[in-house]
Amino acid sequence: MQGPLIDTLVRQGVSRRTFLKYCMTLASMMALPPAAGLAMAEAMAAARRPSVIWLPFQECTGCTESITRSHSPTLEGMIFDMISLDYQETLMAAAGFQAEEALHNAMRDNAGKYLVIVDGSIPLGQDGAYSCIGGQSNLEMLKEVGKGAAAIIAVGTCASYGGIPKANPNPTGAVSVSDIIKDKPIVNIPGCPPIPVVMTGVLAHYLTFGSLPELDAKGRPRAFFGETIHDRCYRRPFYDQGKFAKTFDDEGARRGWCLFELGCKGPVTHNACATVKWNGGTSWPVESGHGCLGCSEPDFWDAGGFYKPLSVPADPLKFAAAASVVGAAAGVAVSFANRARKGAAKSAHETTTLADLEK
Ligand code: SF4
Ligand code: SF4
Ligand code: F3S
Repeated sequence: MQGPLIDTLVRQGVSRRTFLKYCMTLASMMALPPAAGLAMAEAMAAARRPSVIWLPFQECTGCTESITRSHSPTLEGMIFDMISLDYQETLMAAAGFQAEEALHNAMRDNAGKYLVIVDGSIPLGQDGAYSCIGGQSNLEMLKEVGKGAAAIIAVGTCASYGGIPKANPNPTGAVSVSDIIKDKPIVNIPGCPPIPVVMTGVLAHYLTFGSLPELDAKGRPRAFFGETIHDRCYRRPFYDQGKFAKTFDDEGARRGWCLFELGCKGPVTHNACATVKWNGGTSWPVESGHGCLGCSEPDFWDAGGFYKPLSVPADPLKFAAAASVVGAAAGVAVSFANRARKGAAKSAHETTTLADLEK
């Protein structure tokens, strides 16, 4: 552990106002009450910066790029001042033996207290020879470093569920972190790549409460993955009205209609893209005109069918329009209609395996 965070912030000229604003924003993103923002500010200011060891395994560096490519000043930038990133092969200046020494020093000095971040899957094929660091396989390294960890954060769909490396035929025998480690708290932050703010939120929660946030059944922080893309999509009114773009450049697409029939997987994908957005809140896939690919779900890539509509019925429900004339009843009817739509088994559309993600 390093010195209190407040010392670092003061050295960097961060004002109390900026820090409070940061904490309040973070609390609201995590659906915590305003009082939690103040508690978060107090706890984080006093917190010792935890040692973090980041293990980049079988990955494409997209996750690291996502988390570190930020606009200044950002929440993401600030959070990296709140941890002591003691080992990260891609980002650290040290290399070779010096890097190995930094890793072992961090493990020795912070045994039982350090956090481990993993991006990338772990290949089991050929005794793990497909991906090694310093002659050590990812599998061996994860087990060794994981032993002394307080908790493990699996960043990206590869580390969370195996991701693209695990796609059929999975030549390297790729698996996820939770396939290997069974005796440590693990939080999955899936996405290919994941949203930086989600990582920030998880770290802030850990600094504030000393524990990982509440997780869903797939090990994801409920605050960010509790709803589907579809639940919060700004194109949702068009879905409810049955207005769908048929091609990427037709009149419907130009009017911003729903992308369901172009293969959008928003209805079965849990992530915060529709609210948190990307690139400092600039945009997100659906806002850019492309349907969600379902990148934060376990079946991402093999489920495929990126441009095939889900098997969920998308035809406008007849009674939804009629109900719209009776004020508040309309909302109830449309909501009911959507639930019925989700639950219906038959569809005029081609069935894709991604529909299984809804289970
Ligand atoms: Fe790359 Fe996606 Fe895997 Fe991250 S989750 S390492 S961005 S393939
Ligand atoms: Fe948005 Fe896709 Fe749902 Fe349409 S299907 S409302 S584009 S998430
Ligand atoms: Fe991924 Fe869908 Fe968001 S493809 S980036 S979860 S909109």
